[in-house]
Amino acid sequence: MKRSVIKGVGGYLPEKKLTNADLEQMVDTSDAWIRERTGIRERHIAAADELTSDLAIRAAKEALKNAGLSGDDIDVIVLATTTPDDTLPATAVKVQQAIGMTHGFAFDVQAVCSGFMYALSVADNYIRTGMATRALVIGAETLSRIVDWQDRNTCVLFGDGAGAVVLEAQDGDSSKADQGVLNILLRSDGRYRDLLVTTGGVSRNQKAGTILMEGREVFRHAVTNLAEIARQVMGSMDVCADEISYLVPHQANARIIDGTAKKLNFDAEHVILTLPYQGNTSAASIPLALYDGVTSGRIKRGDLLLLESMGGGFTWAGALIRF
Ligand code: ACO
Repeated sequence: MKRSVIKGVGGYLPEKKLTNADLEQMVDTSDAWIRERTGIRERHIAAADELTSDLAIRAAKEALKNAGLSGDDIDVIVLATTTPDDTLPATAVKVQQAIGMTHGFAFDVQAVCSGFMYALSVADNYIRTGMATRALVIGAETLSRIVDWQDRNTCVLFGDGAGAVVLEAQDGDSSKADQGVLNILLRSDGRYRDLLVTTGGVSRNQKAGTILMEGREVFRHAVTNLAEIARQVMGSMDVCADEISYLVPHQANARIIDGTAKKLNFDAEHVILTLPYQGNTSAASIPLALYDGVTSGRIKRGDLLLLESMGGGFTWAGALIRF
């Protein structure tokens, strides 16, 4: 069978940082509250002339460079974002043009903070079925554009950034020893859609809107859903926690990450944590965490990784990948 092997990882964070001390000047909050309740210290904010595509292109070019490939080696780009440059066309085609990819196809997917996992699953299926040999999967966001900077419940949480991976088809023997994506499980449940929404939408009121979240409720579901889907994906490949080198979670809240890690019996040193210095970058957070793990030398070839995410919708997902 064909497996999707990660050949290269890239990431990009805008230059400007917004610290908790900066936020203290903007809303009724404190550095102590933000650190204690979320684990976040600072986040990056895109410059006024920096669009989601600009972030995505920087991450994509680095992933290609690290894979030793050029744009025209790629057959499909799947870009996950909730903050596209424009309502149409897809942000992915801007990336396609920028990397000089003149064949194949490119499109966006939207699953909020689980977007990267959904995009990864789509690309993995193209590779498994032989529709593509190489894929570029990107998570890119300028969440700062849809944050209500007067709402302390949400504005302290989010940041901007982009991460990308290059996947390449490689033969595997269907076992958990294979290199590449071993399995991805996706879930959504629209009954909870109202717990995390924007105040606007193209069809509803022709506005992008700003984020509204019932944080406590999202939190409650997050730990349960994440632990459950992680166990399911591990069970699907007959993998136990001690075979996994790193948990690479969506970075929403340190308490959610700690709670999930505890339920799954992972020690802190086996968890990739970028949240303190990036905040929640939605679809970009998992590829950025992967990028951090790889560039810091912690994630090495052959390591088994458990990825998990939870976001608006609700959407949630779990994946096992041998790097
Ligand atoms: N500074 C100071 N006080 C604050 C702040 C702040 N920034 N924000 C809220 N508070 C206050 C509240 O008003 C509340 O005060 P009250 O008791 O007087 O009403 C008190 O702090 C406690 O509020 P809670 O909402 O109960 O705080 P909680 O401990 O739940 O933390 C948080 C809030 C950080 C939002 C948490 O609930 C969380 O992380 N939720 C999940 C977020 C998530 O995972 N989202 C999914 C992904 S995002 C996506 O898909 C786009």
